Amino acid sequence: MKISSLSPIGILDSGIGGLLIAKEMKIQMPNEYFIYFGDTKNMPYGEKSKDFIVKNSIKIASFLYKKNCKALVIACNSIASNALDFIQKKFYKKMLIFNVIDPVVKSTIFLSYKKIGIIATPATIHSNFYPKKIKKYYRHLDVIQISAPLLAPIIENGWKMRKINPIIKNYLNHLKSIDAILLACTHYLFLKKEIEDFYHGKVHLIDIQKIVVKEIKEKLNEKELLCLHTPYTWNRFPIFYTSNSIPFFFEKKVRILFGEKVFFKTHIFNFA
Ligand code: DGL
Repeated sequence: MKISSLSPIGILDSGIGGLLIAKEMKIQMPNEYFIYFGDTKNMPYGEKSKDFIVKNSIKIASFLYKKNCKALVIACNSIASNALDFIQKKFYKKMLIFNVIDPVVKSTIFLSYKKIGIIATPATIHSNFYPKKIKKYYRHLDVIQISAPLLAPIIENGWKMRKINPIIKNYLNHLKSIDAILLACTHYLFLKKEIEDFYHGKVHLIDIQKIVVKEIKEKLNEKELLCLHTPYTWNRFPIFYTSNSIPFFFEKKVRILFGEKVFFKTHIFNFA
């Protein structure tokens, strides 16, 4: 099937993290139709090997490609930092590939900082993807990065903020005297307020969702693939796939962010 501006956009994450990217897409591009895939069975990706991340993310990307997606948004830093080249190579010219890292590291916002902190999953930190990319564009910038292995799983499992807060503080105590912080795991975007409170407004929190979605919108427009009008006759409720039976907290978050007009489906892969 040929892709057109009416074709869906596929969004991929290990779980709920990418939902905040999807939400920003709905705000900035309200006519788009999207299919979300959360690999909830294999979450957390942050603890997986590069090989595992590459194989599984390619399977999910193929699944979304077969749904006739015009674009794929890798809404997961652990996947982008470990598997981006592989996904780009495999789907080159088949669908547009976006990710949550490139638009951010290219952003001119870095010109105004001297020292930035990055907090991410172990898989993202081990890849060294961020420092390599940032240094390529901004040599002047001092980058400190820390790995926060506990955070994504407890966010995914819906822990209460009063239990998450001491854990955040513990991690952020290692990221002091910085000008800005980059939440380099989409799950952490759910903690923006708590992180801002920790720094009492003295450290700038980089607005990843806005930067990433702005780039997606511009590129789709440039390629004449941006959906400008919603067709009346079509049912274009977003579809949320999970790789095991839909987790309670995943469903809850989807309902809070997207309301009742959504579909849930489970797709079980024979993963590596
Ligand atoms: N949301 C993901 C990220 O941005 C991964 C979290 C995980 O599965 O460990 O890295």
